[in-house]
Amino acid sequence: MKVGIIGQGYVGLTISAFAAEYFDVVGFDLNPKIVEQLNLGVSHIEGIESALLAKWIRAGRYKATTRGSDLSDCEIIVIAVPTPLTGDRKPDLSYIDSACKTIGQNLSKPVLVINESTSFPGTLRDFIKPTIEKYSQAPIEHMYAISPERVDPGRSDFNQKNTPRLYSGLTSEATDRTKDFYSKFCDNLVQVSSPEVAEAAKLFENTFRQVNIALVNEFAQIAHSLGISVYETLDAANTKPYGFMKFTPSAGVGGHCIPVDPTYLAAVAEEHGAPATFIRRANEVNLEMSEYIVRRVTEDNGGSLQGKNALVVGVAYKPNVADVRETAAELVIEQLRNQGAVVTWHDDIVGSWKGESSAPLQGADLTVIVTKHDSVDEKKILASAPYVFDTTGKVKGAKGL
Ligand SMILES: NC(=O)c1ccc[n+]([C@@H]2O[C@H](COP(=O)([O-])OP(=O)(O)OC[C@H]3O[C@@H](n4cnc5c(N)ncnc54)[C@H](O)[C@@H]3O)[C@@H](O)[C@H]2O)c1
Repeated sequence: MKVGIIGQGYVGLTISAFAAEYFDVVGFDLNPKIVEQLNLGVSHIEGIESALLAKWIRAGRYKATTRGSDLSDCEIIVIAVPTPLTGDRKPDLSYIDSACKTIGQNLSKPVLVINESTSFPGTLRDFIKPTIEKYSQAPIEHMYAISPERVDPGRSDFNQKNTPRLYSGLTSEATDRTKDFYSKFCDNLVQVSSPEVAEAAKLFENTFRQVNIALVNEFAQIAHSLGISVYETLDAANTKPYGFMKFTPSAGVGGHCIPVDPTYLAAVAEEHGAPATFIRRANEVNLEMSEYIVRRVTEDNGGSLQGKNALVVGVAYKPNVADVRETAAELVIEQLRNQGAVVTWHDDIVGSWKGESSAPLQGADLTVIVTKHDSVDEKKILASAPYVFDTTGKVKGAKGL
């Protein structure tokens, strides 16, 4: 059976690599550079080894393409394209629209279309299905299902095989075929009663994280104002064996999911006249953390950062990955520059970003740690400046939240 996977990023390439063990996989992506590299067996995604990709290419089980017509003989199509926010922070379904166009224009026989992109409840039924039908040259009864992706890039303990996967189709046949597909490479499939439940569950999972991160970020500020350690207090609370889950404070939230998905939930809630004030406020609290951190750093440095050389350590949104999407480091750097600091950053995993390159880990007036990769030496961070502020709580001997 041939499977087409639209979007060869974190989600799409990960699925491709797992599915290629059982199916012939066509990885469709609009980015020719990515496609060229993939066909050379070079992976651009943490957790997907180039050697594995090369193995599937050699075996004739995987090929990447920019040509929609290469999908024409697929029996299953998986959509794994970005679902970001627009400039005015509204759900942006333009990438899904484009994926639907590719399907509509290139598939002339009925297939199973599975959406893995994160979006609000109703996207499969009310957007994907009619959009594909709109772009199709003749009426075709495709099957439609949703199975939201839960991959956590860079994580080794949970992967496609052992992370439970939700799924549901618009029809029982679509549901059954979706189960058959994923059961090849996922051990734990959880059927829910409708695509809308699966879509909503995915959004709620990430909203849960955003709200709890905001809560602990607010609590970090409260603890500091009370003169107590936020970390010791959290460890103390965490001795309760039930009803508590420990989250740790940080410079904010980053990545493709946690800063974005709750806004999808809030948007659809408000469209239906339901309040989403808590979700909206959590987003603001996390965005305001950079301001709070730079205020603390400024206070500690005589009330002004004018002309000071500030070094930000770690610009990826989380440790040990090169992903800078929605990184809190961007806001911290902006706030430091607003205070007149001359800012450079050190992150050898990211290397270059926004036209700037990773600076040496030395010679600063002050250092702010936003993300601590395992490969970065703590002693070197502490020696990089006479004042070091750590937003991660990992570096002993630095000032912190
Ligand atoms: N990254 C994660 O950890 C994660 C986890 C769970 C869910 N998701 C969701 O999965 C979806 C994909 O996220 P991602 O992280 O893989 O994104 P990504 O940016 O890593 O990859 C998306 C890929 O799609 C390609 N693309 C864009 N529009 C296209 C189109 N019309 N046709 C073909 N290719 C196209 C891009 O070139 C890119 O290579 C999003 O909805 C995201 O919210 C992501």
